[in-house]
Amino acid sequence: MANHPLGIDFGGTGIKGAPVDLDAGDFATKRKRIATPQPATPDAVVEVFREIVAQFPDSTGPIGVTLPGVVQHGLVKSAANLDPSWIGQDADAILTDALQREVHMLNDADAAGLAEAAYGAAKGRGGVVLVTTLGTGIGSALINDGVLVPNTELGHLELDGEVAEKRASTVAREKAGLSWEEWGVLLTRYYRHLDRLFTPDLIVVGGGVSKAWESFGHLIDVDCEIVPATLKNRAGIVGAALHAARAEGAR
Ligand code: BGC
Repeated sequence: MANHPLGIDFGGTGIKGAPVDLDAGDFATKRKRIATPQPATPDAVVEVFREIVAQFPDSTGPIGVTLPGVVQHGLVKSAANLDPSWIGQDADAILTDALQREVHMLNDADAAGLAEAAYGAAKGRGGVVLVTTLGTGIGSALINDGVLVPNTELGHLELDGEVAEKRASTVAREKAGLSWEEWGVLLTRYYRHLDRLFTPDLIVVGGGVSKAWESFGHLIDVDCEIVPATLKNRAGIVGAALHAARAEGAR
């Protein structure tokens, strides 16, 4: 498995990892999932990462890790839906030391965006692509001609006087008990706003709820082409592994 870097997806409820076959854009073996410790402090989470790494003794080489916050050159800069003790941490240095492997962290939506651009719904697409993830928050990845502009944080745009993800994420929909139609109105507002600001050639809608695209995709009324993500819950792990391989110059 020497050519299969490990991808780890650090989410609010689960931490999942698998070695990734970067030619196929898919897991090389079945993934391992461990519940996210609460509180998800760096120390507690590092222990889970250790356990995941130990599950794949044949995997060598770099490790890519996602985080649901801003990560600039390995440094954690925000934690909207994450334990605040991560802020200011040099995650790459801490994890590289703790796991004794080169570790490269990136924003979760950026990982999904890299994966969708390389293997999924945006594969082979030139121009400006916006990948969004609808979940606890709203994540975004801005990709121009296949190149990622990291940390765009478009879930934090203001929409009708409120942070967009507080109104239009999957969790916001569940909390407010919105029907698909009611959510569709909010998503239309949100995606039209993105369209006006970025004039993307393609918008990709990811996050767990993209499985239910048949129920809500047609309710998003936006001029730009808009499609569901295709890597589904594999995007974070695959994108993280790809990021690590690229950071090491192996891809
Ligand atoms: C965070 C982003 C993250 C998104 C999805 C937002 O609250 O600020 O960094 O990508 O949630 O997890």
